[in-house]
Amino acid sequence: MVIADTISENIEKKVAVSFWQKKEETEIMLYIEDLYKAYETGKNKYQVLKGIGFHVAQGEFVAVMGPSGSGKTTLLNCISCYIPFDKGNIKLGGVALAGMDEDALARVRNTKIGFVFQDFMLLDGLTVRENILVPRIVQGEVEAEAEKLADQLADLFGIAHILNKYPAEISGGEKQRTAVARSLINNPLIILADEPTGNLDSKSGRAVIETFIHAREKMGATIFMVTHDSFAASFCDRVILLKDGKIYRQLEKREERSVFQDQLLDAIKEMSSM
Ligand SMILES: Nc1ncnc2c1ncn2[C@@H]1O[C@H](COP(=O)(O)OP(=O)(O)O)[C@@H](O)[C@H]1O
Ligand SMILES: [Mg+2]
Repeated sequence: MVIADTISENIEKKVAVSFWQKKEETEIMLYIEDLYKAYETGKNKYQVLKGIGFHVAQGEFVAVMGPSGSGKTTLLNCISCYIPFDKGNIKLGGVALAGMDEDALARVRNTKIGFVFQDFMLLDGLTVRENILVPRIVQGEVEAEAEKLADQLADLFGIAHILNKYPAEISGGEKQRTAVARSLINNPLIILADEPTGNLDSKSGRAVIETFIHAREKMGATIFMVTHDSFAASFCDRVILLKDGKIYRQLEKREERSVFQDQLLDAIKEMSSM
């Protein structure tokens, strides 16, 4: 008994230093101010983002919804440092992206941001465990601590039994839970998710949303998710509605989930009728 207690205490302590260390202070993880982005094709300039501003605090789970073409992916790509923006400000963990050189932006992308995509983007030739570790593999060294962390995340997300399987051998929901574990392996400032439930049935989609909720509760993770799915969005603390490159409205969850979902559906209906 005594030994068992000591072991579990030790594990808890180790876990606390290695990973479950929550970011204690409430800080602004993502800060966006007056963001503009246009695409130029030949002589044509197409203004996609037209002065967007909002912030996401540490530990928040925020969704962006809006019709196709409203600029959601463009917004995520600006935050991800994949495309340069024209005007405005983006700060990640208090640090401004504007003016950083390519190397610095790549470092931000590889170490400070976790990504979850609609089509999972797992590497077919790697096992689930190796896929979770990819962000560490690209940094060069995978320490025992990282491997332990991968196993802990797999445990937390109910995929421990498939760690040695390959993507072709697991379900869509399991693939996306693997991707969420991968997005957390660097303990990022923020997770950016683009339609994470878009290719899943409702039950698997819900399981993926639950991984985000666990990540937020156990690790203080901050999640910013683009979604078309009002059910998925209704689990968030706040939903930003985007229309024609501008924020149409922000809704905060003050009531239970199902009431919030109804409010979202009403607001979307109102938005599309205008
Ligand atoms: N690389 C690009 N070059 C030109 N136009 C683009 C490019 N990427 C997106 N667009 C256009 O910008 C608009 C917004 O796209 P996007 O951000 O993907 O919207 P959403 O994700 O909300 O559907 C769309 O009209 C799209 O056709
Ligand atoms: Mg999109």
